[in-house]
Amino acid sequence: MSARIIDGKAVAAELRAEIARQVAELKAKTGVVPGLGVVLVGDDPASRSYVSAKEKALAEAGMLSDDNRLPATATQANLLVLVDRLNRDPRIHGILVPLPLPKHLDEHAVIAAIAPEKDVDGFTPANVGRMLIDLPCYLPCTPHGVIQLLLRSGVETSGRHAVVIGRSNIVGKPVVHLLMRKAKGGNATVTVCHTGTKDLAAHTRQADILVVAAGRPNTITGDMIKPGATVIDVGVNRVADPKTKTGYRLVGDVEFDSARKVAGLITPVPGGVGPMTITMLLHNTLLAAQRAAGAGR
Ligand code: GUN
Repeated sequence: MSARIIDGKAVAAELRAEIARQVAELKAKTGVVPGLGVVLVGDDPASRSYVSAKEKALAEAGMLSDDNRLPATATQANLLVLVDRLNRDPRIHGILVPLPLPKHLDEHAVIAAIAPEKDVDGFTPANVGRMLIDLPCYLPCTPHGVIQLLLRSGVETSGRHAVVIGRSNIVGKPVVHLLMRKAKGGNATVTVCHTGTKDLAAHTRQADILVVAAGRPNTITGDMIKPGATVIDVGVNRVADPKTKTGYRLVGDVEFDSARKVAGLITPVPGGVGPMTITMLLHNTLLAAQRAAGAGR
């Protein structure tokens, strides 16, 4: 058996076309153009590629982008001044500070400084709290992208056993909540595995839906997957490959070749979850602009 591949690019394109249509409608009705302010600090390669992909996607959706770059040596005060300016700029509806920040900066303090109504990443303590008690909020982009991929691939989550590997604030913790909550794309029984888990394979082999956000290549191999399971690979890792122009290639956390022989459905890397993260950022920025224009839900 060979797994059906979940085409994240195709699902993302479908959603982006719908977002672009709504952006045009908002503009025609209210004159408001959704705007995203970005503060990129330093030159983390993952953050840089996220920001350049995001620029292209924003332009295609008809949104405005205000890009700000600070050197890796920037101070906490430099960064907070920029966040404050974006907080007060009425053309800007959402703010993105790509993580991780350089080690000398206080990530929690920077996130907490973002105005909650502009928190399109869904990372502020206020937003995370609202999400946990099912109040209206911005859903974090990668976890929301995972749920949309499942829904749009026809994967039933209700009553199934989902196993999540990873407990980060960006992916693991929120994806656990979204899979567990009583809502479409949720209502699953959820097990969380992490670096303290003993006998990882014993858990992963129970999974109808396996979400892997471990940040390490080859965390999951085919023998760790229940036949027919849905495997969502959130990992993005650079591994050296002298055969490529750049000298590296991207791989996920799942050993794709062995996994696809066992799984029923699987996301590739690249082209799986990645395009969905940016799409959900566009979605949240549109939502923020609609709310600011008094046209929101
Ligand atoms: N780093 C990895 N994923 C994300 C994300 O979704 N948002 C931000 N701000 N940083 C990230």
